[in-house]
Amino acid sequence: MTTNETPVTVIGLGPMGQAMVRKFLAAGHPTTLWNRTPSRANALVDAGAVRAASPAEAVAASGLIVLSLTDYQAMYDILGGAGPALAGRVVANLSSDSPQKTREAAAWLAERGAQLLAGGVMVPAPMVGEEGSYVFYSGPREAFDAHEPTLRVLGRPDYRGDDPALAQLFYQALLAVFLSTLAGELQAAALVGSAGVSAKELSPYVKDTIGLAAMFADETARHVDERSYPGDLSTVTMMGATADHIVAASAAAGLDTALPEAVQSLYARAIAAGHGKDNWTSLYEVIIRSER
Ligand SMILES: NC(=O)c1ccc[n+]([C@@H]2O[C@H](COP(=O)([O-])OP(=O)(O)OC[C@H]3O[C@@H](n4cnc5c(N)ncnc54)[C@H](OP(=O)(O)O)[C@@H]3O)[C@@H](O)[C@H]2O)c1
Repeated sequence: MTTNETPVTVIGLGPMGQAMVRKFLAAGHPTTLWNRTPSRANALVDAGAVRAASPAEAVAASGLIVLSLTDYQAMYDILGGAGPALAGRVVANLSSDSPQKTREAAAWLAERGAQLLAGGVMVPAPMVGEEGSYVFYSGPREAFDAHEPTLRVLGRPDYRGDDPALAQLFYQALLAVFLSTLAGELQAAALVGSAGVSAKELSPYVKDTIGLAAMFADETARHVDERSYPGDLSTVTMMGATADHIVAASAAAGLDTALPEAVQSLYARAIAAGHGKDNWTSLYEVIIRSER
């Protein structure tokens, strides 16, 4: 390990923060830590990291402060007492929260002379810094450029723009895809499970279906961007009937119907709004209804 790299501070040592620290240490960055529960730092200190006695000491140790916390409230709880140490620092907050809370945090840090780089890590903790990993960032361009070589250790940095909310929006948007898909996998397993079929037997077909959904991504984006939903190959009416059948099959099997009912509701409301003969992509008009 070399020790001539830029120092970095990591605050928050859940599975994600710990993975980040190990990557920084492996890349030779002098790494300072602070965590509310001190014992979570023990193994990392043994591996070469430096334990700060307080958040203020942790902040003072490096120009770049990486936060990996449950939410943005934790940032206030920790850095609220850091005082003047924050001035001149770049805080890369890689914690999940709402876009609004992210913008508020940028203002809060600016009042203390610090800059916020908001971020969203797009891989699970064991994949941080590994091949294919990437992290969204947004905030002041010069702050990103200054620390990009250090942040690259965590995965390919993907800068989305000045507005700090952008990284959070990209993160939430993709997690909406991910969480919905994962919940769908479980609904699928429960459906075949109701007939005694194992999830393992279904699994190859689940992978095929997710691949099929991925193939629709570009066409879906085109329809959405053009607000045009040609229904020549599939319609809301046809897909909506299937959505009804999934609810009926789930209910008949005694399963929870919340997930299929949410999807069914989108189809029903699209039909009610006159999109029955349009492509299923016209559900977008239901989803953005408050903008119209
Ligand atoms: N885990 C993943 O695979 C993954 C993947 C992508 C993104 N992320 C995001 O990365 C962030 C961290 O994830 P994680 O899995 O490491 O989360 P976690 O296990 O929940 O760890 C959260 C950290 O936040 C600290 N914390 C929470 N509330 C606090 C408070 N009020 N005051 C002080 N410290 C507080 C915890 O301190 P204590 O140790 O004292 O409890 C811990 O260090 C989250 O925003 C998550 O959405 C995680």
